[in-house]
Amino acid sequence: MQSKSIRETFLQFFIQKRHLHQPAVAIVNKEDPSLFFVNAGMNPFKEIFLGNQPIATPRVVTVQPCLRVSGKHNDLEEVGVDTYHHTLFEMLGNWSFGDYFKEEAIAWAWELLTAVYHLPKERIYVTIFGRDREDGLPKDDEAAAIWAQYLPAAHILSFTKKDNFWEMGAQGPCGPCSEIHLDIRSDSECKALPAAQLVNKGHPQVIEIWNLVFMQYNRQASGKLVDLPHKHIDTGMGLERLAMVLQGKTSNYDTDIFTPLIEKIEQIAGKSYHESTTIAVAMRVIADHLRAVAFAIADGQPPAHSKAGYVIRRILRRAIRYGYSHLAIKEPFIHQLVPVLAAQMEGVYPNLATGYIAQLIQAEEAAFFKTLVAGLRLFHHLDPSKIHQGVIAGNVAFELYDTYGFPLDLTLLMAKEKGLIVDEAGFQQALQAQKARAKKDATISQGDWQVVHPSAEPSFVGYDQLEVTTAIVQWRTFTNKAGMVYQLVLAATPFYPAGGGQVADTGVIRSGTQSIAVIDVQKQHGLIVHTVDQLPDQLELPVVAQVDPMQRTLAANNHTATHLLQAALQRILGTHVVQKGSLVTPNLLRFDFAHPTKLSTTQIEAVEAMVNQKIRANISCLEQRSLPLPEAKAMGAQALFGEKYGAVVRVITFDPAYSVELCGGTHVSHTGQIGFFKIIHETAIGTGIRRIEALTASNAHHFVTQQSATLTAVADLLQHPQDLVQAVAKLLYEKKQLQKQLSGYQANAVQQIIQQLSHQLEQVGDLYLLIQTVQPPHPHALQQIALHYKAQYPKIFVLLAATFEQQAHLVISVSDPLLPYNDAHQMMQSIAPLIGGKGGGQPFFATAKGNHPTGIATALQAARKAIHESMK
Ligand code: ALA
Repeated sequence: MQSKSIRETFLQFFIQKRHLHQPAVAIVNKEDPSLFFVNAGMNPFKEIFLGNQPIATPRVVTVQPCLRVSGKHNDLEEVGVDTYHHTLFEMLGNWSFGDYFKEEAIAWAWELLTAVYHLPKERIYVTIFGRDREDGLPKDDEAAAIWAQYLPAAHILSFTKKDNFWEMGAQGPCGPCSEIHLDIRSDSECKALPAAQLVNKGHPQVIEIWNLVFMQYNRQASGKLVDLPHKHIDTGMGLERLAMVLQGKTSNYDTDIFTPLIEKIEQIAGKSYHESTTIAVAMRVIADHLRAVAFAIADGQPPAHSKAGYVIRRILRRAIRYGYSHLAIKEPFIHQLVPVLAAQMEGVYPNLATGYIAQLIQAEEAAFFKTLVAGLRLFHHLDPSKIHQGVIAGNVAFELYDTYGFPLDLTLLMAKEKGLIVDEAGFQQALQAQKARAKKDATISQGDWQVVHPSAEPSFVGYDQLEVTTAIVQWRTFTNKAGMVYQLVLAATPFYPAGGGQVADTGVIRSGTQSIAVIDVQKQHGLIVHTVDQLPDQLELPVVAQVDPMQRTLAANNHTATHLLQAALQRILGTHVVQKGSLVTPNLLRFDFAHPTKLSTTQIEAVEAMVNQKIRANISCLEQRSLPLPEAKAMGAQALFGEKYGAVVRVITFDPAYSVELCGGTHVSHTGQIGFFKIIHETAIGTGIRRIEALTASNAHHFVTQQSATLTAVADLLQHPQDLVQAVAKLLYEKKQLQKQLSGYQANAVQQIIQQLSHQLEQVGDLYLLIQTVQPPHPHALQQIALHYKAQYPKIFVLLAATFEQQAHLVISVSDPLLPYNDAHQMMQSIAPLIGGKGGGQPFFATAKGNHPTGIATALQAARKAIHESMK
């Protein structure tokens, strides 16, 4: 059975059991700051489990891509090494929200596996929750009794909380679970050792394929379990493992989900998957990681330098490193796998089918190869202090790992080539310290919501009102790095939550005589969460929520201007211009878009002119708040790449023939309000991606006024020449000429000093001494002169002093061989205080600067004395 029909069979089975098929959500978790990526099929339903969102459909079935690379569920280190863990995998799940429970969940799982997929019953083992003293939970006898209707007792095993109590994270919905395991060993192996002994022991051929979670509790921040309002079913089956079993394979990577990718990698590497374990592991890592990175980009999370984007960057780099060190691929290649993946997923994940994903991966690969080269340079020019008796310090290996992406084995290999070894314990120590830091960051608790009015269904009224009298529905407090955090959810709110590039509204919430500042507003799991600077004294009283009208107006100006800008870019540059990112604040707008080259001045002027013309045309805003998605698309509405839309969307039109966009932001009612639009920057932010920053209204006016004032000031300085630009160009040209002349004079002066100094050499034994005060034309010349003498004499100590702008400068340079008495660094450290400064450097060359030029003579004397002493 091909993976496509395995997926479809699962869906159809539960659709027949009256489940509603809900499409997958984007794996990028924009709404939950505690979780970067969807890590289980249940994530989008968290608030339903908790009772914060109403149950709209009691039975649901989904196929949800999940990414387990951070937080509680993190499989990254296993991936590739074994044959059945993945970063990205598809989870098949059926859900009951307060509807059926254990009886049906187990019966249907059994029916699907044995009667539809025809898995052999005698090879199925199940586990149930034993009990847990700490949480005060009994053994799940109920589940055991239900399973006993289908399986012999020897196939029903009980395990502890670690294996059979499923939790989403440190906090949140959870419950005992029952897992279904399958024994796919050969008949003889099965006879020799019953699989019951291998369940949950990490055996690659006795593996879990499906987890049935009986959601019953909420784990509070304190660790305490409280009952959920209803009992629910949450199940998850790994598509890749199911495919392995149904396709009669013993590795997920031998299924049709992975073989096309592995074949392509074999072709690029010119190596066979079966050549060696190392090669197989590398190919598995690359195939797996490519999927994770491509899905993440398709869902709107490109590789980046922080947070979720950094997780994706590291996954991609891990794949590149495996290709580099084990397959000897020394140039970008992973991007070539994207079309293979897109073809495999055709009709299932159509958002993978865009050239942009491969382009972005290629650019990222190219950039990382540069980093690799920089890492190699660092390694080959290691500071000698990092090597002790042939052992490279652990923190060097860690820096190579962390900053340059070198796996430890690559560093070990390179060290070996140089006849060195690496302090591996030191490396592990640094790694553990970093992991501990990351864990600490990840486990910051968000506290539990306290419900004030449980029945109200929160709504956003901010498109029509800037002020509303309402009630507090929920509140919570918790501490994070910055200190105490206070959060409120209101029954109705006029506050726009950050989204679609537009920043959140600011304003106040009034309760009695208290006026509480709203610091931030975010959407989290469908709730609009207001972060405030304090809690109202009386939480049950009505409150007045008031958006700051000024900042709202400014943000609306910038958001509408962004739409006008995008339409202008498409008309002037071409229809390939699509939005890649956007930021709208009250102060400015920033728009990132696909375009291969820098915009010319003429193009920028044309764009500005078009946007300003549309502003003067005073076009009115047509807002359609709930259009069916197909209808909106038929109108030609611009949708965002990487954004998943619901069935009903909001469409914002400024002249149907000019700008039609799917958008949730706030806009002006007439474009004339924007007043004026001005582009202030146009730059590149990646391969094929440009960024425009622009201002509107009084900010734009201000900018232009300032620029004009600057020009007037420059013209004043130059006494109002006919052509200002030409006058400045002439000035710069003359400056360059003068500089050339000056350099010539200075070089002569340095030569003269060098000549004069040759008469000042002293000899102590076979050592030459040059200890002098000089006055060269610039500080750099001091070094030049010192190095000149060092190069001329096989055994010389040079100490030169000079004063520039009330500052004393010293340099010491000494020739090889290095003798104990003339280590430049040590000597400088001892004499620098005499000129009121600090100094140091290398054994052969050191410098110092201080603010007591009068101390120069003493410093020179001290050095001379020290040398004479040491020669005795
Ligand atoms: N939520 C359960 C899991 O992820 C099904 O394993």
